[in-house]
Amino acid sequence: MAANSKILVIGGTGYIGKFIVKASAEAGHPTFVLIRETTLSHPEKSKLIESFKTYGATLLYGDLSDYDSLVRAIKQVDVVISTLGGQQIDDQVKVIAAIKEAGNIKRFLPSEFGLDVERHSAVEPAASYFNKRVKIRRAIEAEGIPYTYICSFGFAGYYLVNLGQQNLTAPPRDKVVILGDGNLKGVYVTEEDIGTYTIKAVDDPRTLNKTLYMRPPANVLTVNEVVSLWENKIKSTLHKTYVPEDQLLKSIQESPFPINLRLALCHSAMVRGDCTKYETDPSLAVEASQLYPEVKYTSADNYLNAFV
Ligand SMILES: NC(=O)c1ccc[n+]([C@@H]2O[C@H](COP(=O)([O-])OP(=O)(O)OC[C@H]3O[C@@H](n4cnc5c(N)ncnc54)[C@H](OP(=O)(O)O)[C@@H]3O)[C@@H](O)[C@H]2O)c1
Repeated sequence: MAANSKILVIGGTGYIGKFIVKASAEAGHPTFVLIRETTLSHPEKSKLIESFKTYGATLLYGDLSDYDSLVRAIKQVDVVISTLGGQQIDDQVKVIAAIKEAGNIKRFLPSEFGLDVERHSAVEPAASYFNKRVKIRRAIEAEGIPYTYICSFGFAGYYLVNLGQQNLTAPPRDKVVILGDGNLKGVYVTEEDIGTYTIKAVDDPRTLNKTLYMRPPANVLTVNEVVSLWENKIKSTLHKTYVPEDQLLKSIQESPFPINLRLALCHSAMVRGDCTKYETDPSLAVEASQLYPEVKYTSADNYLNAFV
């Protein structure tokens, strides 16, 4: 495959999608973004779409519900990256069908960007959330479509920025709630680094039909370690409340959607240690920070400096 294959991002106007679009264009790939025409009038997303043009990305209008628009867009590229949101995971069967019909795609990266959906010990509703993605994996494999599955673990902007506190957009300075005993290793990756590693993988034969883990060593940390990093920066000790697992499981059962899902995902990552419990099986998976040591990823320590 050419080193600068043409990339289509489906879901490029989403939270992680915009980082993928930027990384693709910056790496010199002819970059195409599937845009819903209705989104053009969205006040913030219209600015984002304008910024895509400044990177030289090509906008293709389409929608998951318009199958022909998918086929038309896919026929123009070599690689399809889906960054569709949690509500559209099942609908990726339409993307798979369109890829099959187009017949030209050399790599498909379905929307995952989290834990390894086949290696976890999550409880409901996180277990079903992962299983939907497993079904998409099996559908891709059944069609013989070349793939890479991206496991980027915790987005820094979701879980590191707030030391794992729900609904905070900056690290707390007084108190912190820690799920479990805070001693199991999690993984935090910045959105920019997720973009960089993802784009490096698309033309790499070593990631063909493999899962790409992003576990940069400096960012494999327990919640207690993250809190301690932050305490050292602000030279203050936070009051800590530890939530035992049985209490967390009860909250998951009693909370409405989507709080129960968020808690169950945190339970899997932070209390069960699902980000790091499973070793990389070289026959199935490769590690981004080992494949691409030239990437100077942002360490959790540096990331938190911006908030002091
Ligand atoms: N590991 C983590 O910490 C973490 C955190 C968050 C998300 N994730 C994962 O990352 C992936 C992406 O999630 P996200 O939160 O970035 O997604 P998001 O912000 O909800 O974005 C969804 C994207 O899908 C597009 N879309 C929705 N319906 C569509 C349709 N009918 N046709 C075409 N496009 C459509 C949206 O376009 P419009 O702009 O037109 O609406 C948008 O670009 C998911 O797999 C999610 O589970 C992981």
